[in-house]
Amino acid sequence: MKPQTVYSLILLIILPCLNGYKILGVFPHPGKSHFDFFEPLMKELAHKGHEVTVISHFPQKIPLKGYTDISIVDGSHLKYNNVNITHFTGSRLQQHLNSHFLAQLGWAACDNGYTQKAFQDFLKSRPKFDVILMEYFNTDCYLPLAHILKAPLIGLSSCAIMPWTNLQMGFPDNPGYVPIPFIGVHDKMTFFERVENTVLYLLTSVIYKLLIDIPSHETVKKHLGDDIPPLSEIAANTSLVLTNMHFSLTLPRPLPPGFIEVSGMNIGKSKKLPENLEKWISGATHGVVYLSLGSMIKLHTFPEEKTKAFLKALGRLPQRVIWKWEAETLPDQPSNVMIQKWLPQLDILCHPNVKAYIAHGGLLGTTEAVHCGVPMVVLPQFGDQFTNAKALEKTKGGVVLDFWSLNENTLYDAVKTVLEPSFQESAKQLSDRFNDRPMPAMDTAIYWVEYVARHKGAPHLKTAAVGMPLYQYLLIDVIAFLLLVLFVVTYMFYFLVRTIFRKIFVRSSVKKLKKN
Ligand SMILES: *[C@@H]1O[C@H](CO)[C@@H](O)[C@H](O)[C@H]1NC(C)=O
Ligand SMILES: *[C@@H]1O[C@H](CO)[C@@H](O)[C@H](O)[C@H]1NC(C)=O
Repeated sequence: MKPQTVYSLILLIILPCLNGYKILGVFPHPGKSHFDFFEPLMKELAHKGHEVTVISHFPQKIPLKGYTDISIVDGSHLKYNNVNITHFTGSRLQQHLNSHFLAQLGWAACDNGYTQKAFQDFLKSRPKFDVILMEYFNTDCYLPLAHILKAPLIGLSSCAIMPWTNLQMGFPDNPGYVPIPFIGVHDKMTFFERVENTVLYLLTSVIYKLLIDIPSHETVKKHLGDDIPPLSEIAANTSLVLTNMHFSLTLPRPLPPGFIEVSGMNIGKSKKLPENLEKWISGATHGVVYLSLGSMIKLHTFPEEKTKAFLKALGRLPQRVIWKWEAETLPDQPSNVMIQKWLPQLDILCHPNVKAYIAHGGLLGTTEAVHCGVPMVVLPQFGDQFTNAKALEKTKGGVVLDFWSLNENTLYDAVKTVLEPSFQESAKQLSDRFNDRPMPAMDTAIYWVEYVARHKGAPHLKTAAVGMPLYQYLLIDVIAFLLLVLFVVTYMFYFLVRTIFRKIFVRSSVKKLKKN
């Protein structure tokens, strides 16, 4: 080995340690699919030589160098990740009540962390961090960590960005073309969709204030004392937000410098499949259809007539079907259907012989399918899934089907549609657009985390909209002023014209009078 090589090798080993930052991740929400988006980033940061501490419901099973867990496991993740599909009705009302539903989950996530000893001990030790990464979702009660530990704060969102995060960060979110992520509309709305979107936009801001901001502050004061500043002030200090979005898929919107789209950062290289799956997939003459509704919803909780419709529709296909099924047996299982409890989803989707994916439209599965170029039949259930599905339909990556009204024929037709060559091609094109980036999504995320640490919170990223009173942001004062000016000018003009007319009129009538 040349001396230079040895020298650079030593540098390579030492440098990451010298440059290593202390990074805290705060993920109080027990949803596995959310953590699945954050975990690869935290691991990669540790791998890059940073010292990572992670507060979550999902501690590492095998200890990882540079990665310390603060476990807040309370069992809620078991309940949360085992949902009966009949809890969702897909109704518009349920979609409108979504933020209410999310807020309730947030209260539980809030109480859970603060009452756990591991979390309390952690907080008492007042550790130092260069940057804190925190999920921005349905509770604000962990924001004070940034205030107490005096560290810059980065928000992370594994689903579509929440409307209140836009509000806190001053991100442009004109409801004329930015959909509230809970209803099935995309960026080009009809008149009544814009009415609905705008009403929900206003309603959501009120619900946020009443059900998230105020309760979060109350809980925090109970645990940390009364001198915690308003949470909105801490949120306004957020350096930037990394979101699971990308304009090619979640549609374009104005992005200030602190709104970073890193959709796909969790997607690594696809691996070789286990032998049984590899055989089943490559042996399918007409390709394979993959069916899974994510980690939360268990398919064996389908109402019986839905299971029957699925069995009949999928049984009619010449394709083979891989069906994520958590029960032991599937009654009347057709011969072209394979069931399995756990499946390596990315590796299946990226197999060239997999032609369609029947899914629920959560962003994790959706981005994996888009990454691999597989068209989808989406049956949205809750949260941002309706909006994701609609955006996917617009970008020609799939079709949307309503779970509660579907039957054997509509399901069969939808699958047939996405199996058509033209749909296969448009899904491939979407995949090309999604993957065409100046820098891989993970590298982008790492870059911005290090950027914030390097620039001590990088407050220069924020637009002046952050913390601006609403009346100023909406120009209500300016509009009122201009209206006043317009009124005064119009009135003066009217007054002037009236005076002149009167003068002329009076003069001429005086003349007339004199003549008479
Ligand atoms: C916001 O950040 C500034 C600068 O780092 C700091 O002085 C201030 O205390 C922070 N505000 C809150 C509410 O934490
Ligand atoms: C799902 O919920 C429905 C209605 O509440 C119930 O009838 C059904 O037994 C549940 N399914 C499972 C598998 O728990």
